[in-house]
Amino acid sequence: VDLRPYNSFGLPAKARRLVRIGSDADLHWVVNHPDWGRASKFILGGGSNLVLTKDLQPLVLKVEVPGRRIFDAGADWVVEAGAGERWHEFVRWTLEQGAPGLENLSLIPGTVGAAPVQNIGAYGVEVKDRFECLDTLDLMSGRVVTLGREACHFGYRDSVFKQHLAGRSVILRVRFRLPKAWQPELEYLDLQRAAEQAGVKEPTPEQVSNWVCAIRRAKLPDPAVIGNAGSFFKNPIVSEAVCREVIARDPHLVHYPLPDGRFKLAAGWLIDACGWKGKSVGGAGVYEKQALVLVNRGEARGGEVLTLAQAIQASVFARFGIRLEPEPVVI
Ligand code: EPU
Repeated sequence: VDLRPYNSFGLPAKARRLVRIGSDADLHWVVNHPDWGRASKFILGGGSNLVLTKDLQPLVLKVEVPGRRIFDAGADWVVEAGAGERWHEFVRWTLEQGAPGLENLSLIPGTVGAAPVQNIGAYGVEVKDRFECLDTLDLMSGRVVTLGREACHFGYRDSVFKQHLAGRSVILRVRFRLPKAWQPELEYLDLQRAAEQAGVKEPTPEQVSNWVCAIRRAKLPDPAVIGNAGSFFKNPIVSEAVCREVIARDPHLVHYPLPDGRFKLAAGWLIDACGWKGKSVGGAGVYEKQALVLVNRGEARGGEVLTLAQAIQASVFARFGIRLEPEPVVI
């Protein structure tokens, strides 16, 4: 199976076998199958956080479980979606239902099932802030279990599903808890500017969603047009001492204080400062409008993306002494 249509980077790779999972029953069928039950498996959602550098030997499970539901939980709405639903369409649907709270996460590519895996986040909100629970099938035991927030070990672009449950647990459905008493989350500077420009003091959730979409469209490439996997590196977190040291040499460093006294640095700024914007290695390039995003300029191969990423890491380390960590899953 050609995996090019299944990864937003559009990288060439093949899978020996791909099975579509449209329901819990489909998954039980695979788990109980005489040959596939014990075979190693790769779980694929929207493929929007994936860098494929070679063919996939494991059985690929393409999760396509559909469905959307909303429950009245007194002070909150609880909204549920099948893991195969597209994230952005689900967010817009919650707004139509009058259940706001996910609007800052508008336009993020990928599926609902992938959202908790890397704890997607944007404009001051992360999935973990609205998360209720999820149903997941454990491939070892074949049982479906419901995991709450604690069990998911959410971190910055991280969760238990990227760590010790990687490849052994298939997310089927996810639920979010959205307080009926809604407050816009406008801490992010870009959003404050959008509100000011529109002359709006008390925005609606739809307005916030539309601003987020406009901001994203202005600086992030649409994967349907230019292959990419969003931010290629995590924003590094450093001690105050390291942050000061870098500022002493580069006063323009973009940095944000964290509650624990450390600082998050803008990886995009570090890469930009090293002169990478617009550069290429073969078919892989650094996006012109946002140095944190690597793109497929046409016929890129996964190896070229990795070569470019490693060259960027080396130059950022040489200049700033800071190690950048890739954000997508690299195969
Ligand atoms: N910057 C530059 N040059 C660049 C890029 C960025 O100087 O080429 C500086 C700018 O000053 C900018 C700052 O870096 O203000 C931060 O950039 P931006 O606000 O665009 O956010 P980011 O740190 O690049 C993070 C997330 C995004 C998320 C946005 C908005 C990570 C790795 N990335 O990006 O998430 O949408 O904040 O909240 O945390 C993703 O994970 O795939 C993703 C797109």
